[in-house]
Amino acid sequence: MKIVVLSGAGMSAESGIKTFRDHDGLWENHRIEDVATPQAWHKNPELVTQFYNQRRVQLADVLPNEGHYALKELEQKHEVVVITQNVDDLHERAGSSNIIHLHGELTKMRNNFNEVFHVGYKPVNYGEKCPKGLILRPHIVWFGEEVPLINKAAEITRTADLLIVIGTSLEVYPAAGLVNEVNKSTEIVLINPQKTNISTPYKNKFVQILGTSAKNLPSFVKNLI
Ligand code: APR
Repeated sequence: MKIVVLSGAGMSAESGIKTFRDHDGLWENHRIEDVATPQAWHKNPELVTQFYNQRRVQLADVLPNEGHYALKELEQKHEVVVITQNVDDLHERAGSSNIIHLHGELTKMRNNFNEVFHVGYKPVNYGEKCPKGLILRPHIVWFGEEVPLINKAAEITRTADLLIVIGTSLEVYPAAGLVNEVNKSTEIVLINPQKTNISTPYKNKFVQILGTSAKNLPSFVKNLI
């Protein structure tokens, strides 16, 4: 069976990484528009650099959770593609083989020519240059920017027999629109402690598991392998 997973911040919550839409509307004490937009980068690149440096350093200190490992186990029996909105590398560290990072990756920086450089978990000072002498920026898709991998992700979603949507509020487009790309026979399962409103063009069968990813994904996966 072809299984496509769409994951969001809730996937990594039990690893200790905060989700975005917390009650106070702030992301790690910052307004999203101050740290995650091209305007913020233009206005205060030092602050944006520092913000992503903190996220990168924090990432070195956290571990994949049982949910990430369960997705790896699915590969024993099925063809699995993980489409994630997360910029952490916990799917990789749990061993998943096919991962698409829709919103970029914390461990990478890039120059103006879209050449990407691996920086790992270490802080990068604003003004640090790539080997070609060009300024580096975080390899992150900010609000208001295009999502370069969305068409590839949509194509893959169209081929899914089962779509598992985990830990995402489905509030941010175009990623949230991927649930509309399924075909008539695709089954959809949502795993989230909160109820989610979704509609698909075909009114596909879908099941909501109201629970967390680390607690509920392992037993769900066990039934599939
Ligand atoms: N297990 C599963 N789901 C959880 C858990 C958990 N342990 N904890 C929280 N959740 C759910 C919440 O109920 C919420 O629906 O995870 C969801 C997190 O939603 P958001 O914070 O909106 O994160 P996400 O959907 O990934 O945001 C999308 O928006 O901020 C931008 O680019 C950023 O990729 C991000 C995008």
